[in-house]
Amino acid sequence: MTNQKIIISNRLSALKTLDRRLKKLNAERKRKYFILTDENVLEHGLPTLVYNVQELENAEFLELPAGEACKDIEIVNEVWKSLVVSNADRDSIIVNMGGGCVCDTGGFIAATYKRGISYINIPTTLTAMVDAAIGGKTAINLDNTKNQVGCFHLPILTCIEPAFLESLPNKELRSGEYEIMKILLLTNYENWNKVFIKERSYNELISYCVNFKRAVVKADPHEQSIRKMLNFGHTFGHAIESYETACGRTISHGEAVGIGMLYAIYLSTKKVGLEKECLSLYKTWLKNRRNLPKYSLKDIEEIIQYMYRDKKTHDSEIRCVLLKKLGVPIIDIPVSENEIRDTILSQQ
Ligand code: GLY
Repeated sequence: MTNQKIIISNRLSALKTLDRRLKKLNAERKRKYFILTDENVLEHGLPTLVYNVQELENAEFLELPAGEACKDIEIVNEVWKSLVVSNADRDSIIVNMGGGCVCDTGGFIAATYKRGISYINIPTTLTAMVDAAIGGKTAINLDNTKNQVGCFHLPILTCIEPAFLESLPNKELRSGEYEIMKILLLTNYENWNKVFIKERSYNELISYCVNFKRAVVKADPHEQSIRKMLNFGHTFGHAIESYETACGRTISHGEAVGIGMLYAIYLSTKKVGLEKECLSLYKTWLKNRRNLPKYSLKDIEEIIQYMYRDKKTHDSEIRCVLLKKLGVPIIDIPVSENEIRDTILSQQ
C-alpha cells in the first residue's frame, strides 16, 4: 500500500497544486472529469474550484442531494446511469467536492462503476477534511442504518483547502470539532480540553489530524487492527445518529460522535481503568457545547438494536474502542447490554 497523496495548504494554493497534478495526469492520457457535488457546494465552493483549477473547466457536474439523503442506492443508481450516458470510461475520474456524505457516496460510485475507477476528494467541511476524505472508506446507508454497504477504495488524491471553511456555517464547524477531539484524545494532545477555547484557527489541527490518520491508514488500510481505533465514540455515535434520524430529529454526525465519546469514556473508567478526571473534563467540555441527551429505557433498547448492526459487532457481541489512558486506545472490547443501559442512564 503506497502512502496516500494528500495536498494540504491554504489561500487556494492547494487548488493550484491540484491543477498542476491534473495537467500531469492528463499529459499521460486524456481523462474525462465528473464533479460530484451537492447544492450547497454548487453555490459556494464550485465557482472557486473551477476558477482555480483550469483542468476541470470541461468537467461535467452531477448534483447530489445535500446530506445523508445522497447516501442512498437510488441516488447511486442515477449517477451510474448518468456516467454511462456521458460515456465515462475506466480512465475517467470522479471528483468529489463536498462534505463527508459526498465523499462517501462518490467514493462508493467510483469503487463500483466499471469495477472501479479513480477519484479525487476535495473536502469542503471540517469533518470531511480531518476524517471522511482520507483513508478510502466508501459507503452508503441501508434504510436508516449508516454505512452498511461499501468498500475500501483509496482516492488517488485528496486536496484539502481550508479556505473553503470560511463560508461554512458555525454548526458545521462545530460538528467537525468532535472528529478533531477524537484524534486529540487518541493521541493525548496537550491541553486537549482547551483547544477550541483558545483559538479557532484550524489549519494546524487539520494537519495534525490528517497526518495521524494517514499514518494509521497506511499501517492498516482495511481496518483489521489499529485502524479500528478511529472508531472511538462511533459504536454509540452511529447508533445515536441512526436512532435520532429514525425519530425524525436532526443530529450532526459530529454531535452523535461527541455523545458517543462521552459514553465510551465513561465505560473506559469502569472497565479498563481510565482515570475519572478524564470523564469529568470531557463532560464539562461537551456540556459547554450542547445539552446531554435524555434517553428513556425504551429509547435505549432501540439504540442497542442499532448498535448490534455496527460493523464492529462480532459473534453477536457489541464491541467498542475504549481508552486505557489518554493516548492509549484499546480495540474490540465487548460491552454488554446492561453496561450500555447503565452508561446511557448515568450520563444524562
Ligand atoms: N472514520 C474512521 C476511519 O476512516 O477509519
